[in-house]
Amino acid sequence: MTILVTGATGQLGRLIVKSLLERGADPQSIVAGARDVAKASDLGVRTARLDYTEPATIAAALEGVDSVLLISSSEVGKRAAQHQAVIDAAVAAGVQKFVYTSAPKATTSDLVLAPEHKATEELIAASGLPAVILRNNWYTENYAADLARAAETGVLAAGVGDGRVASASRKDFADAAAVVLLEDGHAGEVYELGGDVAWDYNDLASAIAEVSGREVAYVPVSFDEQLAALQAAGLDEGTAGFVAALDAGIRDGALADTDGTLSRLIGRPTTPLVEGLRAVA
Ligand SMILES: NC(=O)c1ccc[n+]([C@@H]2O[C@H](COP(=O)([O-])OP(=O)(O)OC[C@H]3O[C@@H](n4cnc5c(N)ncnc54)[C@H](OP(=O)(O)O)[C@@H]3O)[C@@H](O)[C@H]2O)c1
Repeated sequence: MTILVTGATGQLGRLIVKSLLERGADPQSIVAGARDVAKASDLGVRTARLDYTEPATIAAALEGVDSVLLISSSEVGKRAAQHQAVIDAAVAAGVQKFVYTSAPKATTSDLVLAPEHKATEELIAASGLPAVILRNNWYTENYAADLARAAETGVLAAGVGDGRVASASRKDFADAAAVVLLEDGHAGEVYELGGDVAWDYNDLASAIAEVSGREVAYVPVSFDEQLAALQAAGLDEGTAGFVAALDAGIRDGALADTDGTLSRLIGRPTTPLVEGLRAVA
């Protein structure tokens, strides 16, 4: 069985390749798809140039491949079209298992990031590919900048109100992807994957305090206050609005649910918040 991992040079992709190898996969059975193959040369597996914007590279990378992991692209706003190119090529290549990294409750969520994931899930369903959807909650690593800022100022300001986040470390999500790729079955499943604990921003402030060794207070701000602060910090209006909308989604519960599916899949508890933060400190 040959497995193609797209975006293999990204932070999640690297961990997934590593996790496949840790689980005993033959390095020759893994193809790291990368738009710059030189960046994949240290992964210890086969490599193939694969750029979502160049369909010929996708078709070539898929030669002899049975299973594909499409890691959602990082080019927000262009993703549905890029993902469509991979889905079309996978259909043409007769892929047996198609795995996609999506977002929590992608088809019903109001989260500002959800529409591209919803569109992709719909394209996958329409394609008829035997598919597994991994709806990944937030990476704990997303809080590296908050950690650094709060460690300096003692303040964690956010527009999330009492919203909760069931984050987990990238390694946890990577292990789940490897399990789903290597085990038989899973086709047809939509897995909502989150950490074992859905924490709120008071918990996050305490965790940052524990990691940084200084007191940190969570200061809730309104949407407008956050927008103004982000623009004052130099973000353009569109980016500031996007970030504030993400927080509003968290406030409304978009990332709050967790049912233990991730820890069940990986056969261990997910990485606790403090531990995940300590790793990026
Ligand atoms: N759940 C979360 O909290 C969260 C947070 C951030 C992002 N995400 C999503 O999860 C994905 C993986 O996360 P990550 O941390 O690994 O992100 P990342 O480190 O930014 O990696 C993104 C990967 O996508 C590749 N890529 C981007 N555009 C491409 C194109 N046109 N053709 C081929 N490959 C392309 C990048 O290639 P290069 O190595 O050449 O740049 C990179 O390998 C992200 O892309 C994003 O969709 C989720």
